[in-house]
Amino acid sequence: MKIFNKIQKFLSIITLIFMVACVNKKENSIYDNSEYLEFLKSSKSNSFEIWESYCITCHKSGIDKIGIDQTSYWRNSSKNSLEDLYENVYNGYEGKNGIMPKRGACYECSEQDLKNSIFQLFFLSDQFPNEDN
Ligand code: HEC
Repeated sequence: MKIFNKIQKFLSIITLIFMVACVNKKENSIYDNSEYLEFLKSSKSNSFEIWESYCITCHKSGIDKIGIDQTSYWRNSSKNSLEDLYENVYNGYEGKNGIMPKRGACYECSEQDLKNSIFQLFFLSDQFPNEDN
């Protein structure tokens, strides 16, 4: 009987770890981020201005690298936390698709401006149907 108790205890710990891992994973995605969900309810107005003046040059649909319609890239990128995405946008980086310039070249943008333009990007990209690849 003792062994059954042990197994049961073991199984409940595993279940708990699994549940915590799932919850964390969900919270990490930009699409489940509470700030993103708030953004969806807002008017999105100033983010669109920044998007149109800066980000659109490299991220509008139909652009080879790396337009919002390239959904396999953006669906994958959306799994990052807002903190990681913000850090990459703020500092810039060189990825395999090219150079993401510091702050998307919007040096006067505030933290909130940049976050909103990130939300705008993922919001627009989400309107495109998933690619099969
Ligand atoms: C000069 C071109 C250029 C401009 C302007 C630009 N980007 Fe990018 N961005 C890129 C490229 C290229 C990548 C892909 C790098 C890679 O992952 O290979 C990228 C990647 C990203 C990513 C993915 C980051 C990640 O960690 O997955 C985000 C988010 C992003 N850009 C947001 C923005 C926003 C918001 C703006 C406007 C404020 C902007 N970009 C302006 C070229 C640009």
